Amino acid sequence: MAKTKTAYFCRNCGAQSSKWIGKCPSCSEWNTFDEEIIQKSNTASTATSAGFQKGKSKPQHIAEINSNKEDRIDLHTSELNRVLGGGLVTGSVILIGGEPGIGKSTLMLQLALRLQSKKILYISGEESNKQIKMRADRLGYNKNLCYILSETNTQNIIQELEELKPDLLIIDSIQTLHSSLLESTAGSISQIRQSASELQHYAKMTNVPVFLVGHITKDGSLAGPKVLEHMVDTVLQFEGEQNHGYRILRTIKNRYGSTSEIGIFEMQDKGLREVKNPSEILLSHKEDELSGIAIAATIEGMRPMLIETQALVSPSPYGHPQRTATGFDAKRMGMLLAVLEKKGGFKLGVKDVFLNMAGGIKVDDPAIDLAVVCAILSSYEDIPIEKNTCFSAEVGLSGEIRPVNRIEQRISEAEKLGFENIYISKHNSKVIKNAKIKIIGVKRIEEVFEDLFQ
Ligand code: TYD
Ligand code: MG
Repeated sequence: MAKTKTAYFCRNCGAQSSKWIGKCPSCSEWNTFDEEIIQKSNTASTATSAGFQKGKSKPQHIAEINSNKEDRIDLHTSELNRVLGGGLVTGSVILIGGEPGIGKSTLMLQLALRLQSKKILYISGEESNKQIKMRADRLGYNKNLCYILSETNTQNIIQELEELKPDLLIIDSIQTLHSSLLESTAGSISQIRQSASELQHYAKMTNVPVFLVGHITKDGSLAGPKVLEHMVDTVLQFEGEQNHGYRILRTIKNRYGSTSEIGIFEMQDKGLREVKNPSEILLSHKEDELSGIAIAATIEGMRPMLIETQALVSPSPYGHPQRTATGFDAKRMGMLLAVLEKKGGFKLGVKDVFLNMAGGIKVDDPAIDLAVVCAILSSYEDIPIEKNTCFSAEVGLSGEIRPVNRIEQRISEAEKLGFENIYISKHNSKVIKNAKIKIIGVKRIEEVFEDLFQ
């Protein structure tokens, strides 16, 4: 038995220190170091102790290494293929994070049930085989090669893997695993790190791709182990509002593709449905025109989407105006309100302002600014905006309307959905030729206001 040794790990970023320190030198957080028991000899010799050694690797000339397209597995779920950069790379380790109840287990099980030709092992440390079967029955499946294992010990898991030799491995979740090489409890940073490195080693040696499910803490980071993000090849985040049906799968890190991709799903009673045309679900298609609604032509990842922004501006009864934004950065809303107040002379300082993105979606694209501003003004004036009109521009601090990237794509999506007018920045409008939709190029926020509400 190797000598037991302890070390200190930062709870926030996973940095290691031999003694306790108050401030983490790596992430600058205070008081985040916890003592953990480690066994010195293990980290170095994980592979041997985990019981598999598939030949020593030798240096190879880069020209001799072949990287075929076939090294990607088609997952038969186009949204998943998309976020992974066009299919699952063999031997890669993918971490999929998300809050409890968001649908990680459902997504993984569905993937396992759908992939007919591959042998898949789904390991759950959270649910029993029976519970998983019940869920699988609900999701519906045909004859396939999906195996379920309830196990939390990584050494046992590796043993089973060597026997079953699956083509794809799913671990739900990494926080429940523990390696018997360490004495600390499951879920502690050293256990997570150890288990993940054993599985990563397995993936690299056997070329079997591994999905690791990870829980997320309240502040949105992957619980405890930031360190995991460095170890894996791809980090996906599954997010959405609990009360809305829509779920977004976002790429945070990807060694084999772009990180600006998103996949959209809808949670239904029979599992997750892929949403291939996001704009249609994000627009409410109301018959009558209501004030406080503006449609934005945005791009999330590589996909254009039209999103309905809703604003409510009402007199503030208590002299302390409220500002609430759902799906939009509250600080950015504050900035847009300040621009309207200072440059447009609107008395918004005495009003409550509520902002909401329809469908519970979260938007980062700055091109939504103009729609947000117009929704606020529409509610302020109580004048509806014509429903065949949409917006796509950023608003600057002095009230100028700024151009946005990939404007052609936004315009063509708006055209496809039957919009007739689009407000964009004057700079952007110069490059647009032969659009069916009427393009209104504007320079300043006042111009838009006069055009729409006067
Ligand atoms: P789950 O996959 O267990 O979430 P996670 O693993 O991220 O914690 O998803 C649980 C939620 O999904 C639960 O609130 C019920 C809902 N759900 C459906 O609406 N339909 C379904 O078919 C399934 C399986 C789950
Ligand atoms: Mg789960």
